[in-house]
Amino acid sequence: MTQPFVLAITNRKGGSGKTTTAVNLAAEWASQGRRVLVIDLDTQGHAGFGLGVDADKSAPSAHDLFHHPEFDIASAVHATVWANLWCVPADPLYDGMVSIRDASLLDRQIRRPEMNIYDIIVLDTPPSLDLVLTNAMAAADGIVIPLLAHALSAEGVRQLSRLFYKTVTTVNPSLKLIGLLPVMANERIGHNRAVIADISRQFGPERMLHPIRTDIQLAAAFGARQPIRYFAPRSRGALDYNLLATALASFWHWSPVGTDRVGMGSLELQRKVP
Ligand SMILES: Nc1ncnc2c1ncn2[C@@H]1O[C@H](COP(=O)(O)OP(=O)(O)OP(=O)(O)O)[C@@H](O)[C@H]1O
Ligand SMILES: [Mg+2]
Repeated sequence: MTQPFVLAITNRKGGSGKTTTAVNLAAEWASQGRRVLVIDLDTQGHAGFGLGVDADKSAPSAHDLFHHPEFDIASAVHATVWANLWCVPADPLYDGMVSIRDASLLDRQIRRPEMNIYDIIVLDTPPSLDLVLTNAMAAADGIVIPLLAHALSAEGVRQLSRLFYKTVTTVNPSLKLIGLLPVMANERIGHNRAVIADISRQFGPERMLHPIRTDIQLAAAFGARQPIRYFAPRSRGALDYNLLATALASFWHWSPVGTDRVGMGSLELQRKVP
């Protein structure tokens, strides 16, 4: 079994579509037969909520890794009601007071052999710059940055890119910036187009992923605690996330493998990103 690809969905700016993207990409890949684990690193607990996971307050959570050296993340995995889709919920009571200050804690957990049963691990990250976010960057193989096409979001992306380059030059040289993802985009709004063009000039057009359009059904799906593909399969949001999941999969060269993964079809995500 190969190690899972670890994808962090991240942006320093709050409310930029990180959780919506994490939950819906994960659900798309799971529906295609890939084994997907979402780790909710945001104490708001929105990814777990959106995936319908109700964890007992005393149950192990993602944030336990900052407190207990003997913690095993596999013990914090919850099944969702959907096949191939699991979640490690956040600890809503985590207050940032950590017992162990180490940027590699999450990476070490994820690289445990028990985690090799997953094809991909999606990290939903908090907007704050703290040990949680630096752990996510250190553990990830690639990052996707969802962004709102507003003037202020360019600054959020610049802040995040500084952290990205710091991570690449220190703890995680193989981290890849997979793409920037405009969300709640409306091509008819000139300001949206101008911001996207500006970010595209800065990071390169090849880094721009196809936008996710504004769709109120995405917000409604979150309220109903379901990925959009189950809540409103014919919606714009469902179509956009389906196309994005497919585009990312081809970017990563899903390749044929043997038959050891039940229900996988014949696809496997290779960790290598071009
Ligand atoms: N494409 C979209 N169309 C309409 N609403 C959206 C879309 N994407 C996200 N939303 C809504 O926007 C709000 C913020 O999205 P989301 O929670 O995914 O952002 P976030 O970056 O995870 O926020 P935070 O930084 O607080 O964790 C949510 O209410 C969500 O339902
Ligand atoms: Mg969020």
